[in-house]
Amino acid sequence: MSLRIDDLILQRVDGVRLLGPLSLSLAPGDRLGLLGESGSGKSLLIQALFGVLPPGVAQSDGAITAFGIPLDSPGAGRDAIRGARLAWVPQDPLQALNPLLTLGELLTLLPGIHRKESHREALARLAPLIARLGLPPGLAFLDRFPHQLSGGQRQRLCLAMALSCDPDLLVLDEPTTALDPLVQRSFLELVLELQRERGLGFLWITHDLALASLICDRLLVLYGGSSMEAGLTGALLSTPRHPYTARLVEAARRQPSAESGFLPAPEDRPEGCPYQPRCSRVQSSCSNWAPWKGSAGEGLRCDAPLEGVSLT
Ligand SMILES: Nc1ncnc2c1ncn2[C@@H]1O[C@H](COP(=O)(O)OP(=O)(O)OP(=O)(O)O)[C@@H](O)[C@H]1O
Ligand SMILES: [Mg+2]
Repeated sequence: MSLRIDDLILQRVDGVRLLGPLSLSLAPGDRLGLLGESGSGKSLLIQALFGVLPPGVAQSDGAITAFGIPLDSPGAGRDAIRGARLAWVPQDPLQALNPLLTLGELLTLLPGIHRKESHREALARLAPLIARLGLPPGLAFLDRFPHQLSGGQRQRLCLAMALSCDPDLLVLDEPTTALDPLVQRSFLELVLELQRERGLGFLWITHDLALASLICDRLLVLYGGSSMEAGLTGALLSTPRHPYTARLVEAARRQPSAESGFLPAPEDRPEGCPYQPRCSRVQSSCSNWAPWKGSAGEGLRCDAPLEGVSLT
């Protein structure tokens, strides 16, 4: 496996667990979706992958390896992977793009580091990609600054930067949430084309089940920092094995049933399954529940009977 995350746990400095234990794997050509509502730990996971966890959050257990090299401990090979073989499209492009650099400088940043290409060499190589992403060709555009772009252009610029060293794996953090539906659709189609042509593997992070089920072969459902279940998209949609997944599927089919409450704060999460405070099927064994582990489709994810849930 090219990227492996094994039993990763992320904690706040005061010891409160924010994520995990979480395991997943991603290989070239894979189309994996990570689903979770706001605050479930999606961005923290990516920040751990790229070594940019916010102050006050640290990895306390588990292992992250990419192409056989540990990403969670210092070492020569690690920096050669991040940004080159494993790339990232951030959640908030405006925050992620250095406002003092022109688009041309931003685009040639990673090729300069990883391929030792000059500005001119990198731009010449990237010209077809820039055109393909629908960004205006020509130097006038490349001399602009990030704040002079539209939201959709900024997101495509981030994709161009992520693809600038021809990665094997791409992680996208809710890349289309800020885009209007038409721009969103062209962005999706582009990533899918690249996946088919280049054998790119992607981890697409979103809170949108309908979107994830459209573009992903496998899904992993995250709630309150725990992986609730994972599986092949079709199986997970037709026979969800955790009430939270069932609830997501119902909501995506526009038949939401009444549900109260919010995702509990990390320090207020119950023992066992984090969904208990909102779950209509809660029972005593829920406090012994453990997050999903292993390969997709393994084991029952909840002891509560799910037969009553109609999803067809
Ligand atoms: N710097 C920090 N210090 C302490 N807690 C943090 C920090 N950053 C994030 N958290 C907590 O970690 C949890 C997960 O945050 P994260 O940003 O990963 O959520 P997310 O799933 O990406 O949400 P969204 O969909 O809103 O982007 C939240 O409970 C959040 O409050
Ligand atoms: Mg996020």
